[in-house]
Parts: sequence; C-alpha cells; structure tokens
Amino acid sequence: MANDNRQPTTDGPIRTTDYGLRTTNSADLLRSIPALPDHEVRRLLEAATGRHWTSLILGVDLTTGEIVAFHSFVERRRADEPLQYIEGIVPFGPIEVAVDQRVLVPRPETEELYEIAKVAVESPLVIVDLCTGSGNLAIALKHTFPAATIYATDISSDAVELARENARDAGLDVTVLLGDLFDPLPDHLRGRIDLIVSNPPYLAVAELADLPVDVRDHEPTTALVAGPIGDEVLATIAEAGSDWLRPGGVIICEISEFHGPAIADRFASLGGEIKRDLFGKERFVIGAAPQ
Ligand SMILES: C[S@@+](CC[C@H](N)C(=O)[O-])C[C@H]1O[C@@H](n2cnc3c(N)ncnc32)[C@H](O)[C@@H]1O
Repeated sequence: MANDNRQPTTDGPIRTTDYGLRTTNSADLLRSIPALPDHEVRRLLEAATGRHWTSLILGVDLTTGEIVAFHSFVERRRADEPLQYIEGIVPFGPIEVAVDQRVLVPRPETEELYEIAKVAVESPLVIVDLCTGSGNLAIALKHTFPAATIYATDISSDAVELARENARDAGLDVTVLLGDLFDPLPDHLRGRIDLIVSNPPYLAVAELADLPVDVRDHEPTTALVAGPIGDEVLATIAEAGSDWLRPGGVIICEISEFHGPAIADRFASLGGEIKRDLFGKERFVIGAAPQ
C-alpha cells in the first residue's frame, strides 16, 4: 500500500482538496469522483484500501496512503486501463489469478469453458491448455484434477512468465511452455492427451478497430487477433488436435460467436459440435477423437 507519510501535493492527478476527505467516510469520497460508474469506483476503493465495501460504507478513516492509491487507480481507470489490471487479481472458477498488461483478462465465457471441461472427461490424466495467457484454465483444471499432469503453452514469453507465477502462487504444478500451440509439447504426449482446452485469439484484424478502447489499447493484440479472417489459430488447432488426443480424448475451444458453422466444419473430423454460452451466442466447439 502507498506510503502513509506522503504529503499532499498539487502535482499530478491528486487534488489537494481530496485530502479534506482523509477522515471522512467513503460515501463522500465516492461522490467526489465523477465520470466513473459507482460500481467501478467502489471496486477501486476496495482495491486501494484492501477493505471490503461493507466496512468502507460504514465510514472509516482512510489513511493518506489509501487516498493517494485510490486517486492513482481512478486516474488509471480514466485513462481506460482495464479495471482488472488495476485490481491486479481476477477470480476464475475455484482459483484466482494475477493479471496485468502481459495477458488477456479472463472472461466469464471462459469460465463457462472451464465448467464444460470439468465434466467432459472422467478423471483425465493428461490435460493441455493451448494459448494459456494468465494460466487461468490450466491452473483451475489442476485444482479440479490434482492427479492430472497439466501442460500449458503460449507464444508470448510475457504470458508464460505470468502463468508460471500464477501456478506457483496457487501452489499447483502446471508445466507452462513457450511456443506455438502444440510445438513445445513433449513428443511422447502425441496420441495420449485426455483433454485439450483452448481459448485462442479468434478476432479478425478488422474487428480490432471496433473493440472497446480498454480492450483495444490495453490488452495484448496477440491475445485477441488471429489473422485476416479470425479462425486461423483455431484452424491449426483443429488440424493438429487429432494427432495429440488419445482415442476418445476430448477437445473444447472457445470461438467467435460469428464463426460457429465454419468452425464446426474445421472440427468435422472430431465430430465438432457447437455449444452456446449463457448469452445464447455460439461460443464453444467440442470434439472428440474417434475411439
Ligand atoms: C484469448 S487469450 C486467452 C488467454 C487465457 N487462456 C484466457 O482464457 O484468458 C489468447 C492467448 O493465446 C496466445 N497465443 C496467440 N497465438 C498463439 C499461438 N499460435 N500459440 C500459442 N499461444 C498463442 C496469446 O499470447 C494469448 O495469451
């Protein structure tokens, strides 16, 4: 937390008038922050103080350090940095992962993928998460299947670094490898994987311009964009997947809501079936290697 001895200053984003709020309650502080939704301000205040909203709303004396941290968080959010990067932690299924500009913020849809994967194969022994990012899927699956050997790959060394940190912090053993999709996996896994999961990049280059600014300007482009069409990474996964799955092994990937029929075709040799998410959008492809 920020240094409590720091003196009020007129430099930078901190206004001296803010310091008048030092011993007032959080509701007053909330009213002093225009242009951000209340629920975001509350979360930023919780993150800056490490206190739950229910205790803040009762009216506590915030330290100077907490107020300084809070205002710096507000400024970052006003500059469109994703809320979760500022908070630094995202809950995901049974775990939580640290996130920052090195990785995509895990989305609720991907938690649905985790829920599907959890029941797709009985007691999987070898699980691979392609395009792991923060490691959210791989680590959540290791938590769920402690006896399984879990491999995760990512083409970004930044993501690999953070996924390893997240696995270590969760105290869970996940082997995170740097490289393109299946390439870094040990060859002996060929034909032996029980479950493959992936939330790969699936946007077309042209879609980038229309994304909300906090996504477009802050999350890694390599996490979002697959190529001119958007299905390029999934096409490679579909092609190589059958080599790596054991007979009867299952593959589940997140897809663009606009690519359902095309992706079902690409996964046809695995009996690719499209499943909708909770919003009714075609969001997942599920396939299985022939027995
Ligand atoms: C949409 S993000 C998903 C991250 C994480 N699995 C999640 O669900 O939040 C896609 C990730 O795939 C990685 N990636 C992109 N192309 C890749 C490739 N060819 N091989 C491996 N990883 C790739 C990116 O670096 C990024 O971390």
